[in-house]
Amino acid sequence: MVTVIFPAAGKGKRMKSDINKVFLDLAGVPVLIRSLLRFSSCPKVDNLVVVVAEAEVKSTQSLLQKTPGLKPWQVVAGGSERQYSVLNGIKSLPDARDDDIILVHDAARPLVSVKTIEGVIDMAIREGSAIAAVPAKNTIKVCDAEGRVVNTPDRATLWEVQTPQGFKRSVLLAANKQAIAEDFLGTDDASLVERLGLPVYVVESDYGNIKITTPEDILMAKSILADTLEELQLQKLLAKSAEAMGEAISSLRDAFKGFK
Ligand code: CTP
Ligand code: MG
Repeated sequence: MVTVIFPAAGKGKRMKSDINKVFLDLAGVPVLIRSLLRFSSCPKVDNLVVVVAEAEVKSTQSLLQKTPGLKPWQVVAGGSERQYSVLNGIKSLPDARDDDIILVHDAARPLVSVKTIEGVIDMAIREGSAIAAVPAKNTIKVCDAEGRVVNTPDRATLWEVQTPQGFKRSVLLAANKQAIAEDFLGTDDASLVERLGLPVYVVESDYGNIKITTPEDILMAKSILADTLEELQLQKLLAKSAEAMGEAISSLRDAFKGFK
């Protein structure tokens, strides 16, 4: 069984928009819906767990009900930090087995390829933990608090990490339990597993798997999508539901006013 958890319960502060960035329109389709449909088109994926802010649960359910082509899904409420949102997603799967695979994917990465999704699933089955990443393009410096360079790690060893990140359920659960016990907050899911001393393997992804974070990212994403065959098929699939989806988006805009 392969379940994908989508943390989408952030506030998107850097986007400075009037709606949670995961519901922003990207060439006619909300960012979150694009992410969910990419995973739904992967035969290895069984079901989806979408984690949103409490105030957005109902409207998100109504949006997903109006979206054709999704794998079985549920919507649960998130927490104050991404890590807690993911944990709420894990807890929503009480019947899961130890060797089930759980993928975690930022709802804000709508351009992930099916090749990357499958690569992460296969590696997680084989090794227990796998993360999508791309070789670092830039030279990276380690600096101290005064901005003085401490050292320059060899670029050939540096990977820029993305999502999805995939784990055997038992591994992800143990990692989260230990993080809570030690009051550790990581910037990704794999960092919790690394603290257990377990191996995590990189799966080479592509530079198009960007995270929608600031307004320029929407422009960038649009140009990556333009006129691909996949995009034409998606537009066809959603054409009939556009109006109904639009209504759900309006109520999500209202909900956002209440908690941003
Ligand atoms: N996320 C979440 N729960 C939180 C914080 C973030 O589920 N408490 C989700 C976001 O919705 C997003 C993903 O984690 O899909 C990656 O986080 P980020 O890009 O930082 O999104 P935000 O926290 O919403 O944005 P910002 O940091 O600009 O406020
Ligand atoms: Mg954030």
